[in-house]
Amino acid sequence: MKVSTSKPDTLPPGVRRLSYGVFCWLNRHIIVLRWLAAFLRRFPFVGGWFGVAARASAVRGVMTRPQSFSNSAHAPNLAAGDYLIGMDPGPTYDADKLLLDARLAVLKPTLPASADQEVQRLVADLEKRGTDKPFDLIEDYLMWIVFRAMYPLFGSATDRVAAGAHGNVNDPGLQQQYLMEIRYVAGQLLAGSSATLRVQRRAELCADALSARIAGANDDIRQAWQVPASLKFIERNAVGLAWISHPVTVQSGALIVQELLGRPEVHKALRAKAAQLGPAVWQNGNFRDLVRNHVLELMRFRPIFPLLARDVPRDTEFETGARQNATCSGGGKMTVLSIAAMFDPRAVPDSGRFCPARNWGNQQDLRWLMFGYGTRQCPAKDYAVEILTSALIGLLILPELQLARGEGKAITYDGALMSSMRVCFTAQAAKDSHA
Ligand code: HEM
Repeated sequence: MKVSTSKPDTLPPGVRRLSYGVFCWLNRHIIVLRWLAAFLRRFPFVGGWFGVAARASAVRGVMTRPQSFSNSAHAPNLAAGDYLIGMDPGPTYDADKLLLDARLAVLKPTLPASADQEVQRLVADLEKRGTDKPFDLIEDYLMWIVFRAMYPLFGSATDRVAAGAHGNVNDPGLQQQYLMEIRYVAGQLLAGSSATLRVQRRAELCADALSARIAGANDDIRQAWQVPASLKFIERNAVGLAWISHPVTVQSGALIVQELLGRPEVHKALRAKAAQLGPAVWQNGNFRDLVRNHVLELMRFRPIFPLLARDVPRDTEFETGARQNATCSGGGKMTVLSIAAMFDPRAVPDSGRFCPARNWGNQQDLRWLMFGYGTRQCPAKDYAVEILTSALIGLLILPELQLARGEGKAITYDGALMSSMRVCFTAQAAKDSHA
């Protein structure tokens, strides 16, 4: 964004706290961001002054010019060192991308079965736990589903990576420690370079721990990946893959459940369909499609990346949709307000309505905008959506959930991340289970 060309390190602590606080607040209060988005769509020249692309056409235009609007804007947020998402195209990017594509291909035969299996195990556990005990949707549910579903990414090295070089591979405490570590590293992707120093320090410590953990498991990873590559190559990609794959998917899962619980009618209708199907929920393709469509629509309303930053390496312009193009000075930054594009009524029919069955016609590409756009779109988007679909099916067959009351807030945040989301079964669900 043009307004943020100042270097975060030069910000006085109070200003840093305030600007990061505003960013986090807006992320949590997505509706406010949508109002702002609507304003910038209506008056695109205002977005142009601040270097913000808001209309669908403007966002598409910027995202398809990676040479002029560079992903290197992510680089200052990569606490654990350089990785694909923050690189410009070139030999390193190409080599890393090849490896990533090969790793992702391993998920194809295992998904969604591996996610379904873990969901079924957790659902059985949660049912046993009883209806009066709240649980944390992140730590007791999503974290493990994504961990199991992503297991093939590191293959036979996964347990060693998660337990550390000398840890007991069967210790769930060590696995949990690993999952927290990568969470804080990944959290930096959301405006991390302007985060408070406390948040930055923690991410740096976790990034150091992650690098040491990967170095300790280097031989196992090399064997699992079967790539005759340099140590540096393996380490960069293993560190990157660890933090980029798991936490973002878990956070997205929590966000979609938050959105769904705020829409009781939608929630009830989906539960009713699941109840009708009984044990066949896992085999019924139509139901899975229905839930997948809901996942995408819930993500549209509560995306984890409502906006993306881009560096502007040299002077250029972009088409805001106003009569005149907006100029962007080389050396600055700009913002792609994806949430504005996903709700742009010029491109998305009835854009403000929650409508999982919407016919997107020739705007299908916008439907996936929460995963980015163009050549730099998330390469794991289909897998992530499959995992979230499995996770959601599991929640639909459990007794009805609501956010837990009492003992503090049900949802707690830590910087830009949701750190916990306590849920419990509704009173009605408790009555039904005792009947
Ligand atoms: C719901 C979960 C996920 C969401 C919402 C998500 C979102 C995104 C977005 C918005 C981008 C584009 C960033 C940009 O253009 O600046 C991206 C890129 C990327 N994502 Fe994901 N992602 C998810 C899961 C994953 C997973 C599971 C993996 C790996 C297994 C992954 C790996 C990547 C990589 C490597 C890139 C960079 C691609 C490139 O620059 O060429 N993501 N993701």
